[in-house]
Amino acid sequence: MVTAIKKEIFLKDYTPPAYLVDRIDLRVELDPQATRVRATLSCRANGQTGQPLVLNGKRLELVRVEVDETELTSDRYSFADDLLIILGLPGRPFTVTVETVINPAGNTALEGLYLSSGNYCTQCEAEGFRAITCFPDRPDVMSVFTTTVVGDKTACPVLLANGNLVDSGDLGDGRHYATWHDPFPKPCYLFALVAGNLVHIRDSFTTRSSRIVDLRIYVEERNQDKCGHAMRALQKAMRWDEERFGREYDLDTFMIVAVDDFNMGAMENKGLNVFNSKYVLALPETATDVDYEGIEGVIAHEYFHNWTGNRITCRDWFQLSLKEGLTVFRDQEFTADMISRPVKRIQDANIIRSFQFREDAGPMAHPVRPPSFVEINNFYTLTVYNKGAEVIRMLYTLLGPQTFRRGMDIYFERHDGQAVTCDDFVAAMEAAWGRELDQFKRWYSQAGTPELTVEATYDPAARHLVLEVAQNCPPTREAAEKEPFYMPLAVGLLDETGRSLPIGGAVDSATRTLILSERSQRFVLDEIPTKPTVSFLRNFSAPVKVVFAQSDEELSRLMAHDTDPFNRWDAGQQLGLRYLLAQIDRFQNGDAIELDQRLVHGLRNLLADDDSDPAFLAMALLLPTENWIGQQMTTIDPVAVFSVRQQFRALIGRALCAELQTRYHRLSSDAPYRYTAADAGRRALRNGCLAYLLAPDLSGLLDPELLALGVQQYRTGDNMTDRLAALTYVVNADLDTGTELLTDFHAQWRHDPLVVDKWLILHAGCTLPGTLDRVRGLTVHPSFTHKNPNKVRSLIATFCATNHSQFHAADGAGYVFLADQVILLDTLNPQIAARMLAPLTQWRRYDADRQVLIREQLTRIGGLPSLSNDVREVVEKSLA
Ligand code: TRP
Ligand code: ZN
Repeated sequence: MVTAIKKEIFLKDYTPPAYLVDRIDLRVELDPQATRVRATLSCRANGQTGQPLVLNGKRLELVRVEVDETELTSDRYSFADDLLIILGLPGRPFTVTVETVINPAGNTALEGLYLSSGNYCTQCEAEGFRAITCFPDRPDVMSVFTTTVVGDKTACPVLLANGNLVDSGDLGDGRHYATWHDPFPKPCYLFALVAGNLVHIRDSFTTRSSRIVDLRIYVEERNQDKCGHAMRALQKAMRWDEERFGREYDLDTFMIVAVDDFNMGAMENKGLNVFNSKYVLALPETATDVDYEGIEGVIAHEYFHNWTGNRITCRDWFQLSLKEGLTVFRDQEFTADMISRPVKRIQDANIIRSFQFREDAGPMAHPVRPPSFVEINNFYTLTVYNKGAEVIRMLYTLLGPQTFRRGMDIYFERHDGQAVTCDDFVAAMEAAWGRELDQFKRWYSQAGTPELTVEATYDPAARHLVLEVAQNCPPTREAAEKEPFYMPLAVGLLDETGRSLPIGGAVDSATRTLILSERSQRFVLDEIPTKPTVSFLRNFSAPVKVVFAQSDEELSRLMAHDTDPFNRWDAGQQLGLRYLLAQIDRFQNGDAIELDQRLVHGLRNLLADDDSDPAFLAMALLLPTENWIGQQMTTIDPVAVFSVRQQFRALIGRALCAELQTRYHRLSSDAPYRYTAADAGRRALRNGCLAYLLAPDLSGLLDPELLALGVQQYRTGDNMTDRLAALTYVVNADLDTGTELLTDFHAQWRHDPLVVDKWLILHAGCTLPGTLDRVRGLTVHPSFTHKNPNKVRSLIATFCATNHSQFHAADGAGYVFLADQVILLDTLNPQIAARMLAPLTQWRRYDADRQVLIREQLTRIGGLPSLSNDVREVVEKSLA
């Protein structure tokens, strides 16, 4: 069955639904190839009566349509182009019953009802419910769902759906059933059904109003021992949302199901979250600290959606950031409280600068609230999620914690049970603040990254510091000319000795929040006794680029003394960036690369620093990412960026060999692995030291004793964090030793899919020559399959989106490989195929030869006769 070609749809064309569906009763009789779905919709006109009823339906076989329990003859309805249109409806409320047959076993798109490891599960966001039954598949139609799941007793002992279990029983023919009722009206994208042979672990949570909630995590039996961390994370998230936002859980049970085949991280279906097993399962020997942190964050994110997404949902998909930006903000705050606020802020700012800025500068750039789209699945992006969270964070900074919290309370009070817009959210904040936010709302409608140009002039006679700030935002698809943005600029000042100068800030006297609202603005700070060093954009108070000519001395002072940990870290990054860019110039001219001694000096100080949080030091030790370096260049030279950065790492490893080894050994411990923020921070710093020690120089040379240190850590480590770190450094330092250890690793873990993913990532991320050939070989390895998104991301996305020097090899072989993979994936899973395309969308950033090679591949894909809407939209926008 072919899916209809979609047109671009526009926010400005929004119209309310012609009919509402107050209730839906579903009966799903499970069968791998022919699942029968009977849906009865209780409909009423939303305004004018007598209109045709238009229901969405795709990839399903329509068996029967009834209105008020009478079967319709074919002249009363049509079913074409993914729409079921019913005519001649009564002027009063009526029921429509639709019977469809679907094929879960043949569903490789992982949207709608599908099988994962033999178990049934669903994914309906954004528009997957229409692949289960015919329904007005739009989030402003909210219904009370009652779901009866019927399944084979041996194949499907467990039958789950949203809400509370209200009935169950034996059907006498080898099948049984369970009926679930969800009392909260919800859009159909939050529907979920799970059935199969699963076990569960149980615990409970007592809400602050003393209700006991039954918590369950369902997994395949082999994973039963890996759920403890996820369960504790859930309990922490539930407590945190009560304490921080006053939000209590509302049903008697909360269920999580982990599946191996999943397009994204997880899904917040009401009372029945479905998770990619990557974000549930963890044991010290199989999961790293990063995995543990990711699990805690994603569990919290999906749980927080219960209020921001489910109780209050989106009017239409243009408003996606209403729930996603806000929920990411909430999960960031949660993780900040669980680990370390500064470290979390650095991680999040890094994501924005390394990845979201790049998206904003590419052909798929869109505002936080896109004005149009072809395929909504292409808009689950860093812009909607992470920039959306930055927009919420700016409101938090502008209003202050108490007023922001009051705004949240107003939002929940006003809109509980509704499907609303980003404007409604901002209106609640305006009500709390008592001021309008019209100009601020441009963050929702204008794409692109504003660039601030800053000049500071000190007048000793007047004791004035004048800050001149100009903003400029490059043109993007939706607008050539940008109106100025409204944003908070958190600023502090340091004197020559690094002490902070009071400047009368509201929260602390050392930080002042200036409001930038004009294209160009002058801020005068009074009573400044000496020429200060400016700590600009503290805590990354707005998602912007900054051009500010500060001297190396000023940056070094900030790096050593700034009380704002984000800027302390960022000053080091800026210095590193400066030295790297200077050497990239030399490299491109064929000159030898030299390491600036000031960088060595700064890093030596970090290695000797016993006062700062090790997790912070681990981040400060890192050189700017290849992505961030590339973004500073007019034309990205991926080989030069990688080579210079690699050579820097090697030179640092040699220059600071003694200091690195000392700190490495001082951080060693015999205590058994525990995932705590403190232990994880120590491991991160220790492995950061090891990374430098094992960094080979450009001729591939490395002291065998250092290599042996890595091999030893791999062999003796008692946890995946330390073993995987060591393995990564060995794999990237020495091909023979790396290959030997990879074989050992695969032999040990080939039965654990999540660890096999790590093995694929190690292969695909290897920066030594020949990686593309090895990656190509792995696409036909028994441990790999194109049908599993985690495998595809591990092998193909790691190579194409992160291994820049290998993927962008001058012969263009990487581009041909990716195009081949996208073409194959598009026949299986269009959402994943479209995501894999991302590296090719950036073609304008490279030199003329690479541009030609990349465009050739985009054109080849675009010329195929049958392409998904997902891939077609990305290709067409990239070439436009
Ligand atoms: N709402 C989910 C989340 O943020 C995202 C999601 C999960 C999703 N699965 C999806 C989006 C499939 C599109 C398609 O957490
Ligand atoms: Zn989400």
